[in-house]
Amino acid sequence: MTIHVKNNIHWVGQRDWEVQDFHGTEYKMTKGTSYNSYLIREEKTVLIDTVDHRFSHQFIQNLAMEIDLNTIDYIVINHAEEDHSGALSALMEKIPNTPIYCTEAAIDSIVGHHHHPEWNFKTVKTGDSLDIGNGKKLIFIEAPMLHWPDSMMTYMTEDAVLFSNDAFGQHYCDEHLFNDEVDQNELKEQCLRYYANILTPFSSLVTAKIHEVLSFNVPVDMIATSHGIVWRDNPTQIIHQYLEWADKYQEDKITIFYDSMSNNTRMMADAIAQGIHDVDPAVAVKVFNVSKHDKNEILSHTFRSKGILVGSSTMNNVMMPKVAGMLEEITGLRFRDKKAAAFGSYGWNGGAVDRIHARLTDAGFETALSLKTKWRPDGNAMRECREHGRQIAKQWALHELAKTTPTNHIGITPAAVNDTPTDTAVAAEPAPVQVAAQTATANESSHPADCQCMICTVCNWIYDPAIGEPNQGVEPGTAWTDVPDYFLCPDCNLGKDVFIEHKA
Ligand code: FEO
Repeated sequence: MTIHVKNNIHWVGQRDWEVQDFHGTEYKMTKGTSYNSYLIREEKTVLIDTVDHRFSHQFIQNLAMEIDLNTIDYIVINHAEEDHSGALSALMEKIPNTPIYCTEAAIDSIVGHHHHPEWNFKTVKTGDSLDIGNGKKLIFIEAPMLHWPDSMMTYMTEDAVLFSNDAFGQHYCDEHLFNDEVDQNELKEQCLRYYANILTPFSSLVTAKIHEVLSFNVPVDMIATSHGIVWRDNPTQIIHQYLEWADKYQEDKITIFYDSMSNNTRMMADAIAQGIHDVDPAVAVKVFNVSKHDKNEILSHTFRSKGILVGSSTMNNVMMPKVAGMLEEITGLRFRDKKAAAFGSYGWNGGAVDRIHARLTDAGFETALSLKTKWRPDGNAMRECREHGRQIAKQWALHELAKTTPTNHIGITPAAVNDTPTDTAVAAEPAPVQVAAQTATANESSHPADCQCMICTVCNWIYDPAIGEPNQGVEPGTAWTDVPDYFLCPDCNLGKDVFIEHKA
């Protein structure tokens, strides 16, 4: 199957709806991908890139149905990674003397993968051109580290198409080829996921390369990537988006991720998140358990965040392995201009938190004070965590924090609010009087002043002795002291330790 791209250019690539893993299992593909190869038929016939090696047979068969393979004059390999040059061995078996245009570095990696040093390589550098007839040329632009040292882009004059290879692509599979034909939310999400997880370490090179290409002052009518869609509607939008992402990108967002042996560190994460929200309701806060959530999504949120909080239980005096793995990835991704802090629960030593703090500092984050809790956090410890969140929100605020009264945090007792140091220079604490008034208004009908209710400090679920919790065998009329120790909050699954008296 081929798809017409423009004039004498056709897509001859391969869709891969099923693929889930890339780079081993390091990159989870949630929307498949495509391996885009392009056939140009001017006076000369040119093939730009091939497809993943797993589709070699299908690719050659498809191509042979379109043209006599012997009529291919030139092959351009923009990048040697096997998802683009993978079908080269099968193709070169059919047309062994066809010249392959690529960078000097690509010869090393193509030979390293295919073991055919005798192939007819033609080395090109930035600015070199290849006449393909009908008044058109291919101009080559080296793009080292976008994505490998061998990477380059190829620009076709007259048609003004930039074959950008990995750059500006996405792991995204759709029956449509062009950017204006697909779901825009999916497209944007996959573009960001791709940049955040693959290209972030090379952001300074991205900026330099884009400015170099722009300095050529040539028209760009389409950007034909090697994965996902072809940008034909306002193609420079993705160039400008890359410039924004490459420039120490951050949103008013905080990402919290952790792993937790016994839920204790999770309780801390929840309370810290609530504390952030108390002080800065506008900031986006995302909380992830690294052992349960898609790692690449967490990294995408990290990319978008102004700061991250990383938590782990202490296990054998070190952090839990999935947290360590995330920190290794984050170190490699070389995020810039972001803040970070460590937290976690421990039993007899708190080595995990210290190690996380050190790793975050080494990875280039501006680190804030860490927070440790011994064993399962009790009510006081939960208040400390929440206060920690408030302080983080103030320290990391991107805007002046307005005096606001929380409307949905009735779990903050007046006493807890009064315990909170006020930092009027940066932000105002919630007004205790107003919180108390709201609490009374919200509950006075069902919770009289002398009620014996208890409230979960994590999710604000209220235990009313008059109702009990029949689902856990706690009959109506059961006082809190008689509720069994195995009781769990029905909303957040945490134990009795996190409950405090509900002040009506
Ligand atoms: Fe799509 Fe770097 O390969």
